[in-house]
Amino acid sequence: MTRILRCNPSSISFSHTGVPVFSSDETREAIEEASNHIHSTHTPLIFPTETVYGLGASITDPEAISKIFSTKGRPPDNPLIVHISSMDMLSPLLSPDFVLPDTYAALIDRFWPGPLALLFPANPESVPTTITAGHPTVAVRMPSHPVARALIAVSGKPLAAPSGNSSGKPSPTRVEHVVRDLGDKVELILDGGACGFGVESTVVDGLAADGNLRILRPGGLTVEDIEDALRSQSRDHTHIPQVLVYRRDYIDKATEIAPTTPGMKYKHYSPSVPVSLLMTSQPPPDVHATSLFDLVQSDLRLTGDSQSRTIGLMVTDESPLASSSLPAGHKLRVYSLGSAEDLSVMARRLFDGFLTLESEAVDIIYVEGVEEVREGLAIMNRVRKAAGQVYWVKETVQQEDK
Ligand code: TXA
Ligand code: MG
Repeated sequence: MTRILRCNPSSISFSHTGVPVFSSDETREAIEEASNHIHSTHTPLIFPTETVYGLGASITDPEAISKIFSTKGRPPDNPLIVHISSMDMLSPLLSPDFVLPDTYAALIDRFWPGPLALLFPANPESVPTTITAGHPTVAVRMPSHPVARALIAVSGKPLAAPSGNSSGKPSPTRVEHVVRDLGDKVELILDGGACGFGVESTVVDGLAADGNLRILRPGGLTVEDIEDALRSQSRDHTHIPQVLVYRRDYIDKATEIAPTTPGMKYKHYSPSVPVSLLMTSQPPPDVHATSLFDLVQSDLRLTGDSQSRTIGLMVTDESPLASSSLPAGHKLRVYSLGSAEDLSVMARRLFDGFLTLESEAVDIIYVEGVEEVREGLAIMNRVRKAAGQVYWVKETVQQEDK
């Protein structure tokens, strides 16, 4: 039986050293119970973070860490992020001779607690190789979600936590998503409501000798905000470190074959329904833009199926695609990604869109592409990995076969 304990995030505040103060007994009791679970059951639990829900266990509990992998069906060579609640928890995790670079000091100062995971040289005495997957580095973040931070503080243990989904599936942003995916496999869930960012943390490696930052996974914290922090906190304005995004700005062979960046080696973010990405930008020279009508018709022809189908369409409120006509007998289920003006809302709604449409048993999901700026970089990173096909579509409403 899965126990779900409700928490009110706004009833928790923190002292400047990260000690939680509760104004709700129900929330305090839920977090104390979750902390007892961490200390006594050797089983992971689900907790909310500001990005997505996580499946967490104490880094000092090898049995529970091993169950994180088996619960998710996660390959053991994919390392976990360690979550801390205060700066005191950081240094024991790090190689004793590590000196914090200025770039890290600037990012920690500005963005922790928050959706930023930083790579550090790991202290093998305190971080087991099951967490680092044998890499010399450990990814650490301090979540800003009050429930996550209070749970870590009350348990007194850094928590290793991947997203709380079966490996390869979209990450959960609401408890309903967790229950549908892993409900029979987890014993305890802390419910803190819907996650604010909706995409996972930005994973940053700033350990290279050139002093530049490499974004291994774009996420909730935008590259633009990281660049801004480096600019405004740099003492030497003649040399501001660069922020390089993997695959956009650089690529390296070792990373391509190692699974250290999500989706590089393993399938990611895919609902059980096929997903296609619809690009509304100018198509490449050798590609013809099609209409949604023609696309549906040819997709259905490919599946050799003429039954009535439900087409899931994830688009912005402004998108003309939402009023596209479809071949006779097929239904359109539109899931709004919010206004095209607000990429943070689109990010928040993305995984919920995949998982909601999947639960409604649509036959195919089409997602409208966005410009790869700010949160758009993380959105398109997830959509590209989820999508089996990319099509360029005309945004004009088609009137065929009404
Ligand atoms: O927002 C998040 O980061 C969420 C919440 C729960 O905190 N967690 C999350 O964990 O997304 P996960 O395991 O689904 O993705 C973390 C990714 C891993 O897939 C891995 O590729 C990368 O972070 N990572 C972890 N440790 C690393 C390391 N030492 N070197 C390079 N990449 C690492
Ligand atoms: Mg994940």
